[in-house]
Amino acid sequence: MRAIALDRTSAKPVLRDDVAEPHLGAPDDLLIKVLEVGICGTDRAIVRGEAGELAPGADYQILGHEMLGEVVEAGPTAASDYATGDLVVCTVRRPCRLPECPTCAHGESDMCYTGKFTERGIFHAHGYMTSRVVESTEFTVKLPPELRPFGVLIEPTTVVEKAILESVRVQHRLDWVHHLNEEGAIAEDWRFVRRAMVAGAGPIGMMAAFLLRLHDVETHVTDVVPAGGYKAALVDSIGARYWNVAETPVAEVARQTGNIDLIVEATGIAPVAYELLTALGVNGVLVFTGVPGDRGGEFQFQGGHLMRQQVLWNQVVIGSVNANRSYFLHAVKDLGEIARRWPDALAKVITAHHPMENFETALTTQPKDEVKAVFDITPSS
Ligand code: BGC
Repeated sequence: MRAIALDRTSAKPVLRDDVAEPHLGAPDDLLIKVLEVGICGTDRAIVRGEAGELAPGADYQILGHEMLGEVVEAGPTAASDYATGDLVVCTVRRPCRLPECPTCAHGESDMCYTGKFTERGIFHAHGYMTSRVVESTEFTVKLPPELRPFGVLIEPTTVVEKAILESVRVQHRLDWVHHLNEEGAIAEDWRFVRRAMVAGAGPIGMMAAFLLRLHDVETHVTDVVPAGGYKAALVDSIGARYWNVAETPVAEVARQTGNIDLIVEATGIAPVAYELLTALGVNGVLVFTGVPGDRGGEFQFQGGHLMRQQVLWNQVVIGSVNANRSYFLHAVKDLGEIARRWPDALAKVITAHHPMENFETALTTQPKDEVKAVFDITPSS
């Protein structure tokens, strides 16, 4: 089988054709044909040597964690829920299963205490940029057939589902928010977010904007690309507003718009991320989703002013990584609604389809207007 992998010796991406076929092991396993895999900033960081880690002793690690696949065969237990031809997406992180980790035991490996988890395609485990994989139904969700063109966007969508739903939970500290929702469907109720800012018009930021607009939130997206360009036009087309922060700094955006209840950071650039505190409103929540490298990112800021504001305005800053299966289920539902409401705009999020042979260029360069580039692992016939 073919696979795009990171080679340990050369520390470079390679296209291998000698990867062994996987086989069903446990009764709830699925054999899955991989259709598409999205290219993420994390994949490019792995290739630059700035993220991820090969499993000890492994000569190579198959890359890719944003997958879309089709069931080829279901084990005897899995077969009660899955049939050949079903579209599926697999999660990324696998739990540590250590006795001292209550979150992993609870299906929340995204909140693992021990750090002894693995992540497919990133940390100590093979990813999905290969023809076929085997995965347990515990880490798989099913997609309706109409999501075939967009299914590869599920994983990036789960990152923002988690970021926003965590903020929703945090805002239940406010009694008026708590009272909005007597029925207890906490995760469904985004009404505390009356106005939101999304920093970064890449795939994570773009999916955040779609989710917020789906929930009728007034949404402001910031980036440094020109107003009137591809990404700005895409933002405008879903009823969000685009701001070029090279012209209007985020503090000024907030001054013009009014109290910002939620900011989703999707830049991965530390100075840009912390500057967002200057735009955060009273009782506001700022969620960081970008993962910068360890080096660089030094900056200076008015710490006294920002700390004073954070206390006097009851502000919360959350770091949010990965997504467990529950967020994948939310993403399947929401992406379905987004696809019905804005099919053309959603199609514009996927800006390039690459054959696997393009691995080197696709993993090392990023064209200016790229939002999400994907590898066609099994080209549709
Ligand atoms: C992935 C997450 C992962 C994180 C850190 C992100 O790109 O979407 O699943 O936890 O990288 O490895």
